[in-house]
Amino acid sequence: MADTITITDNRTGKQYEIPVENETIRATDLRKIKVSEDDFGLMTYDPAFMNTSSVKSRITFIDGDKGILRYRGYPIEQLAENSTSFLETAYLLFYGELPTKAQLEKWRLNIKTHSLVHDNVKKIIEGFYREAHPMGVFTSALAALSTFYPEAQNIHDPEIRMQQVYRLMGQVPTIAAWVYRHSKGMPYVYPDTKLTYAENFLNMMFNTGTAEPNVNPVLEHAMTVLFILHADHEQNCSTNVMRSIGSSHANPYAAAAGAAAALSGPLHGGANEEVLKMLDEIDRLANVPDFIKNIKEGKGKLMGFGHRVYKNYDPRAKVIKKLAYDVFKVTGSNPKLDLALALEKIALEDDYFIKRKLYPNVDFYSGLIYQAMSFPTEFFTVLFAIGRTIGWLTQWHEHITDTEQKIARPRQIYIGSGERNYVPMNERK
Ligand code: ACO
Repeated sequence: MADTITITDNRTGKQYEIPVENETIRATDLRKIKVSEDDFGLMTYDPAFMNTSSVKSRITFIDGDKGILRYRGYPIEQLAENSTSFLETAYLLFYGELPTKAQLEKWRLNIKTHSLVHDNVKKIIEGFYREAHPMGVFTSALAALSTFYPEAQNIHDPEIRMQQVYRLMGQVPTIAAWVYRHSKGMPYVYPDTKLTYAENFLNMMFNTGTAEPNVNPVLEHAMTVLFILHADHEQNCSTNVMRSIGSSHANPYAAAAGAAAALSGPLHGGANEEVLKMLDEIDRLANVPDFIKNIKEGKGKLMGFGHRVYKNYDPRAKVIKKLAYDVFKVTGSNPKLDLALALEKIALEDDYFIKRKLYPNVDFYSGLIYQAMSFPTEFFTVLFAIGRTIGWLTQWHEHITDTEQKIARPRQIYIGSGERNYVPMNERK
């Protein structure tokens, strides 16, 4: 059987044979379909990329109908359960293989030795109000990094590229923690290279002056797993932005700042914050049925539910739900857990949600853990960004080394006015 499809253009009666590769046709092949020689050719219209692949990628695989997520072929559940550290999973994502002991050590050292942030970045952070939203401060600090490392603009040099990968991976937790410390008026804690990635981050966040870092191992483990679960998710909104900015050959700090800005939206990474606000608004179990009724009447959305790709339980949400109980053993339960469980139960049994295949996504339970660990609600998306930085970098790297890629530049269907003459002010109605 030939891997082609034949399209008949009913406008002209002509037939076109179009190759099918990876169950996909090339949109540019449709340009052959014309009504006349000077016709531009057929285009596709796909708002929000509902059915358009913009890349070939070897990084992350998702089967949304089956609820499968794999990094480089490894199921997310196995990585969450067995990965010895976040940096091990990060290595796997970036290089495509699990590291040997020596490879992991080298990777860890390179990242750790780049975890110190230029002192002027502190001044940038301090220029913001203490009440400023942490994602705004975090995003601005990422963008500012490019001015400290102008050589990063040379994205064609593999060594220079790698140095920015180490710097971003090393500095993102430091910047995030400093954003928090500034908001609280607390002195900054500097990175400690003896600690694991997650432990170092938690120490920079919450150390209140103990001589030795004293991070609870259960919380360190939870943070590690949360970073692993958030590390990549193929062509999501923020990753698409990272690739798109990267496609113009902008430096990786600019691209990461753009990706972080995209992540901040409530339909994307900002949803974890929205879930907590929603639970606050619902307040009591007795209010759950009315809240669901309103959602079904189109008054708002059940935040933390639904996904463009998953039409089954988000596998990350399953891992997080289990992890929540481990964390609550240390921190005490989050009183909002009962509310979340009740919401989930009703939604999973309700026709409205079943018909639309709406299941809890990664953000539904992550906020409860973050809150129990003492992170302020506005800070949740920053935590997502720390984990996702390696995904952004890996996807960016794949993109700019992919010879099939060019500057990202969609087409449009123009539906505005035709040509008309300028009207002077005094003649306008
Ligand atoms: N609550 C209630 N109804 C919903 C929800 C929800 N959370 N999500 C989708 N729907 C409904 C829509 O109203 C629509 O109904 P209709 O067919 O009657 O019009 C139907 O389900 C399909 O929804 P779309 O908006 O077309 O789905 P899309 O793929 O565009 O959106 C998204 C996916 C943005 C995640 C959406 O489900 C949503 O807004 N969820 C809440 C926000 C959220 O949790 N975002 C985090 C996603 S995970 C992440 O980015 C990390």
